[in-house]
Amino acid sequence: MSVHSSASIKRITTHILQEMKQRGEKISMLTAYDYSMAKIVDSAGIDIILVGDSASNVMAGHETTLPITLDQMIYHASSVVRAVKRSFIVVDIPFGSYQGNSSEALRSAIRIMKESGAHAVKVEGGAEIKESVVRILSAGVPVMGHLGLTPQSIYKFGTYTVRAKEDAEAAKLLEDAKILEECGCFAIVLEKIPAALAKKVAETVSIPVIGIGAGGDVDGQVLVMHDMLGITQEFKPRFLRQYADLQQVMTDAFKNYIQDVKSQDFPNESESY
Ligand code: KIV
Repeated sequence: MSVHSSASIKRITTHILQEMKQRGEKISMLTAYDYSMAKIVDSAGIDIILVGDSASNVMAGHETTLPITLDQMIYHASSVVRAVKRSFIVVDIPFGSYQGNSSEALRSAIRIMKESGAHAVKVEGGAEIKESVVRILSAGVPVMGHLGLTPQSIYKFGTYTVRAKEDAEAAKLLEDAKILEECGCFAIVLEKIPAALAKKVAETVSIPVIGIGAGGDVDGQVLVMHDMLGITQEFKPRFLRQYADLQQVMTDAFKNYIQDVKSQDFPNESESY
């Protein structure tokens, strides 16, 4: 049945995502940051749209996710919400808006939910942010966790290489996943960790585990839209499958337009009044 027919549109919920895990149906998730792209990805039938703080990189051109602000995340999220009819929309709480202060975490989550109309928030970390996670959940806001390579901690890690290859870090990650599940998180993202560890986490916790660079034995996959569309050509990690070469397609279109303007081919008579 087409997801385009308005009568047939059934919104994805945390309950539906849980059922998908139980019956072994993989969950599809992509990032989006603006109205036009969100409309296309929602119509294509994606299950979850993540308004990621990767907007800091792909939309604003920053080197890391750290500079993006809560106001900027709310702006992106509300643009996405206006476009979407079916997908479940999750919004990253940005760096500095939830760590170390659970009251601020709650305030940030409530601002995102109230001002954007999104359906859930995502936070990075395990035991260290437990108090913030519990506080946000107590207000009825669904929380998605994020473990492994957590880009908001990039200056602690020092590199973007695979995380949790050593036993101690792998054990802590598994423990953190259990803590997030016990707190009541509805799902967890695992970024750039060994596939065997991701499989173990997905088998251990009952909530959906969505991977990015975490192998195929998890409950779903997420990619950054601009990377999978080939808009960000300079970023080509091993886990990324590029589904289009939009940089080439767009460059060709721009060059053709410039050529047509210069040669006075555009506009022609049928394109004029
Ligand atoms: O911000 C983001 O795009 C993310 C994904 C990489 C999971 O957190």
